[in-house]
Amino acid sequence: MLRIGVLVSGGGTNLQAIIDAIESGVIPDSKVELVLSNKEDAMALDRATSAGISTEIIKRSEYESSAEFDEALAQTLSTYSIDLVLLAGFMAILGAGFFTKFENRVMNIHPALIPSFSGAGYYGLKVHQAVLEAGCKITGASVHFVTPEVDAGPLIIQKAVAVKQGDTPELLQRRVMEEVEWLIYPEAIRLFALGLLEVHGRQVIIKQ
Ligand code: GRF
Repeated sequence: MLRIGVLVSGGGTNLQAIIDAIESGVIPDSKVELVLSNKEDAMALDRATSAGISTEIIKRSEYESSAEFDEALAQTLSTYSIDLVLLAGFMAILGAGFFTKFENRVMNIHPALIPSFSGAGYYGLKVHQAVLEAGCKITGASVHFVTPEVDAGPLIIQKAVAVKQGDTPELLQRRVMEEVEWLIYPEAIRLFALGLLEVHGRQVIIKQ
């Protein structure tokens, strides 16, 4: 049984997609054991509670340094014996110390085709706004293993979606979520749960 911990800060639609994919058997032999938020009013916490999942809140403001905050997160995840950590709209940057405990066991979803529109400053609607300003005809989302460098870890799955005339950042964000994010995140977790992901430097090989 793969024990999953999900780090959230907001709406939790990706968390919901993951819960549903486990429930329906798309992701085998796995359970979300903990949803951990750095924001006490995150709607994702309500989704977790509705699904009977334990929740914890750890705020950055309660710690003197980022390193102590990272340590508190890692400690809590260890308490729940978490095997795989999923960032799902988690609005804090994890430091190098965190990854010593969870190397190649932390995934993130980013709402663009990395390396485009990624890295510091590209989060939430800003990503989609930048895609529209650049006049792109396609965008998408990327699931990757997380390393200390923001949005730069080994890519697991990417999928494209059309940008349409008349799109607003909000419309585009919704299309990227519905047509890409809620599918590729569960798929990446399914591959991990089946032991089919191998990391070789920056490359992720999917074993057949
Ligand atoms: C998603 O767009 C995800 O790609 C990004 O943050 C957003 C989180 O949305 N990392 P939600 O909280 O899963 O609804």
